[in-house]
Amino acid sequence: PDSITVGELAQRMAVQAGQVVKTLMKLGTMATVNQTIDGETAQLVVEEFGHTPKRVSESDIEEGLETAPDAEADMQPRAPVVTVMGHVDHGKTSLLDALRKTDVVAGEAGGITQHIGAYQVVMPGGNKVSFIDTPGHAAFSEMRARGANITDIVILVVAADDGIKQQTVEAINHAKAAEVPMVVAINKCDKPDADPDRVRQELLNYGVVTEEMGGETLAVECSASSGEGLEQLAEALTLQAEIQDLKANPDRAAEGTVVEAKLEKGRGPVATFLVQRGTLKKGDTFVVGNEYGRARALVNDRGDNVEAAYPSEPVEVLGLHGTPQAGDRFVVVDSEQRAREIAEHRQEKARETQSTAPSTGSLEQMLARI
Ligand code: GTP
Ligand code: MG
Repeated sequence: PDSITVGELAQRMAVQAGQVVKTLMKLGTMATVNQTIDGETAQLVVEEFGHTPKRVSESDIEEGLETAPDAEADMQPRAPVVTVMGHVDHGKTSLLDALRKTDVVAGEAGGITQHIGAYQVVMPGGNKVSFIDTPGHAAFSEMRARGANITDIVILVVAADDGIKQQTVEAINHAKAAEVPMVVAINKCDKPDADPDRVRQELLNYGVVTEEMGGETLAVECSASSGEGLEQLAEALTLQAEIQDLKANPDRAAEGTVVEAKLEKGRGPVATFLVQRGTLKKGDTFVVGNEYGRARALVNDRGDNVEAAYPSEPVEVLGLHGTPQAGDRFVVVDSEQRAREIAEHRQEKARETQSTAPSTGSLEQMLARI
């Protein structure tokens, strides 16, 4: 691990790689630009150039990424981050689309031009809500498994004509395991065979006690098709968010989680970041998972270029050097060199883990991975 490539060493001393190669030859070592030399040799080279060598230890590299909690006085209210879950075809996407159409700001601006997997809606009444459009709860549990708890509220969508189904139960279990409060949307209430009472009754079997049943879980009868109950659903979300008293400090270097990331033709790696603390500004340098980057452009959910993204805001980020994974954390750091060092260090560690991992596991291990 205590080694460096010739090219990297040259870059750090701000000299031509050829000069380092020559110096190495003088010291009796033959190496090309891409070859790795050990720390001892590197130290000799640095001294030959008249510099004082300073070795960067592993702890130095990662140091400072674990940030202290914010002072209560710096905390300001933030929008809730809401994930929609439920059984297949129960109307998750339709409901999100319908809620989006109630966006008072989008209405004024003439509609939404671009779809990204996360967006913020200004509800009737002026409250903001950020929605995460995870494709199924596989993504939700994957993120949670990787330590990324980004959701404040789960909307559990249940079709009133179909009732509780297998994936409804799974969604309930995910939300419970993550200790995220639920708001139930009893959808498709426009259908003639809709039976919302049955839904509330069935929910009892899974420990979800709605207000009507004497419990605390908010349940709203609605229809994505007719628009009935959407305002009440928005109100329920706002109420639930108020109970949680969600706050973040906007005046600090940004941190958050990758919601989705992909390699796009002509744009390079593009990631959607959900800012969770601080303010992400255009030009900021960050480490994200095993990658790093400098925010060349920030694009909001309407496709507009913006200068900054605040807590609970999702934003598309351009200027990454590689494609991170959904669930990766991003942290803004003070210099590009430091960001690169941390990313390279993490990549190296990832490679080490990969090469030491057994190529075939037991059947049990394989099942555990599925
Ligand atoms: P998956 O993403 O495939 O799991 O489905 P989904 O839960 O996102 O459901 P989607 O929004 O795609 O809706 C499934 C079907 O139900 C579509 O044909 C919708 O038009 C219909 N649908 C959704 N909401 C309502 C509703 O409130 N009333 C009626 N009548 N139909 C609805
Ligand atoms: Mg869908």
